[in-house]
Amino acid sequence: MDIQRKYYVGIDVGTTNAKCVIINDLLEIVSKESCEYSIESPKPGWAEQNPDMWWDTVWELCINVIGQFEYKQDITKIGVSGQMHGLVTLDSSLKVIRPAILWNDQRSAAECKEIIERAGGEEALLEYTNNNMLIGYTGSKICWVQKNEVENSNRIHRIVMPKDYVRYKLTGEIFTDVTDASGTGLFNVKEKCWSKELLNKIGIPIDWLPKVINSTDQSGVLKSELAEQLGLKKNVPIIAGAGDAVIQPLGSGIFDSSEGLLVIGTGGNVTIQSSKYIYNSKARLQFFCGVLPNSYMAMGVTLSAGGSLKWFRNLLLEGQIPLTTYGELDLLAEKSPVGANRLLFLPYLSGERCPYPDEFARGAFIGMNPKTSLSDMVRAVMEGICFSLKDITAMMEQSDFVSKSFCLSGGGAKSEVWKQMLADVFDRRITTVAASSEGSAFAVAILAVISDKTWIGSEQIKQRIPMATNNVPVKKNKERYSRLFSIYQKGYPQLKDIFRDLNT
Ligand code: XUL
Repeated sequence: MDIQRKYYVGIDVGTTNAKCVIINDLLEIVSKESCEYSIESPKPGWAEQNPDMWWDTVWELCINVIGQFEYKQDITKIGVSGQMHGLVTLDSSLKVIRPAILWNDQRSAAECKEIIERAGGEEALLEYTNNNMLIGYTGSKICWVQKNEVENSNRIHRIVMPKDYVRYKLTGEIFTDVTDASGTGLFNVKEKCWSKELLNKIGIPIDWLPKVINSTDQSGVLKSELAEQLGLKKNVPIIAGAGDAVIQPLGSGIFDSSEGLLVIGTGGNVTIQSSKYIYNSKARLQFFCGVLPNSYMAMGVTLSAGGSLKWFRNLLLEGQIPLTTYGELDLLAEKSPVGANRLLFLPYLSGERCPYPDEFARGAFIGMNPKTSLSDMVRAVMEGICFSLKDITAMMEQSDFVSKSFCLSGGGAKSEVWKQMLADVFDRRITTVAASSEGSAFAVAILAVISDKTWIGSEQIKQRIPMATNNVPVKKNKERYSRLFSIYQKGYPQLKDIFRDLNT
């Protein structure tokens, strides 16, 4: 007898693409599709996208994936996740006012300083939000619009984050969840509410901000006209979902701090879970609410991880050099030895967030010589990204966030060379799961399962997300990398002033 399965949809509004996956209640992916889009950069350091481009892309994916799905009548719940921190401004008819300002946009350094001052300094800010005000965070972007685009600012009725705009188009409801609210830098992570005191001090009207609910809570149902077009049953619930960086560990079956998550996407993240609220001493880390009740996570983000390799690949494409697929870049990197023949790369192409919050930081190759080859350069770029992630991890360890092993997710998880490099640089076991490329879309579909079947526990989820690869450190390599990492760590402090002089 056929068992009747239930199906769950995960939709992710990423930075470089949108994804839609359908999983069944055994957490098996039964259908998926993704579609790429571009980022606009009207000025150096700026990063924008049109929210309606997200919606058009997501809707096309819904038609292709959900609309074509054989058992679409058994779709039970939908979850949404997305790039964090992006500012979407909506007018009184809930129409988009200006392009969204994204997480990796660097325009709001002055506003960050002003917010920290108005809050009464870093310590006071930590009391309000337990987070620094980073350039990436939504709060500083709102202040930038208030100061620099008065006409637009006067029209603001609501602000939301990227996935919340897509939710609005799906349900007609305006909500955000505790994880994306944390990433605004305006949310009291301890009390799980907007920090009225901070908002008053910096002049952001609380009415602009969406209502905040837990990630597993229902935020509405799919609009009836959309359900009809897709052929779904009526009133399919849409859960609040979460910001991509916070939900990704769930997609790798990570529930506690014993295993951390590394992500190599456009940016690179290190995330470690915490079951308790921890004071974010010296505002070093990002400390956000997690996707499950009473869960938190600490995180550090490097802005140009996969983005650095993509930049280098584009240079090769422009030069019409034929070896340009990521698989071919792997082969090139393998031709160069550990340490890339004494070549280092600092991957701060678009400024940096962690551990060096600095909008002026830039990329650098250090140690070129007449024999430096293309292979050395590719390898150095990949190694530089590993060092940058390790640099974040070293800082997290100083704040007592220590993991015994790491799981790798994002596009970087497809590279065999990178996985071994990370194991050697981190001196830790590096695993991947089969669905690592589906990242947040898979994870938010799992969250939809959790929200539906309260009986499903962490052990059952882990069993259903089997490990795909397992790389362990090689003694000789890890010793070499340990020395190179200490040299790498001298790079930014030595070049800091040069970066500033070049850019001012
Ligand atoms: C997290 C962060 C990025 C974005 C893009 O703080 O800035 O991970 O969410 O995916």
